[in-house]
Amino acid sequence: MIEFHVITLFPAMFAALEHGLVGRARARGLITITTHDLREYGLGAYRQVDDTPYGGGSGMVMRPEPIAAALDAVRAGNRDLCALLMTPQGEPLTQTIVRELAGHHGLILIAGRYEGFDERVRSLVDREISIGDYVLSGGELPAMVVVEAVARLLPGVLGNPQSLTEESFADATLLEYPQYTRPEEFRGMRVPEVLLSGDHGRIRRWREEQARRRTATRRPDLSARREKS
Ligand code: ADE
Repeated sequence: MIEFHVITLFPAMFAALEHGLVGRARARGLITITTHDLREYGLGAYRQVDDTPYGGGSGMVMRPEPIAAALDAVRAGNRDLCALLMTPQGEPLTQTIVRELAGHHGLILIAGRYEGFDERVRSLVDREISIGDYVLSGGELPAMVVVEAVARLLPGVLGNPQSLTEESFADATLLEYPQYTRPEEFRGMRVPEVLLSGDHGRIRRWREEQARRRTATRRPDLSARREKS
């Protein structure tokens, strides 16, 4: 069981998490996802959450007070929540980090908009997370990525827990081997003979070899990390 709290200006975006594996996990009570509308913590009659940058420059910056107030409110009712700021400046998300996050009782995900956060927001959170070296216009999709990646590690969420250990990145450094299903021949491409052989030892060795080769050609960076460990 893990509780997710999302602080966002666009709670409706998180309807995406009513579907699929995560939706089922919620329905079964394995996780909870609560959105907190940052606008409600905005300042003044207009519920302002952003402002122009000191020193000039284009774009708007998220003010610290609304985020601090939202965080205080979420933390007040719950102990031991790990607060994450979604930002392209954060630690690049890896399966290792996902596993660490899955060890918490609950996570608070802060999804920002505009050009960025006032620097002092960083002092309010436990970690800053980036989902990759590209820039999105808000932290909502990154927050959903974290929820999905963490939720599927929790006991009972996946139908078949074995697929967790078999899949790519189970050890974070190996891509998955090629998979085939029916038909045996599709547009002239045949399923590798070994997979039809029924020889489980041969199949296992073939898959290990394929996974290694695939990782070496597609992700030499992962291969290098693997050889070191
Ligand atoms: N917000 C905007 N871009 C992002 C990214 N790549 N990762 C996390 N948060 C973001």
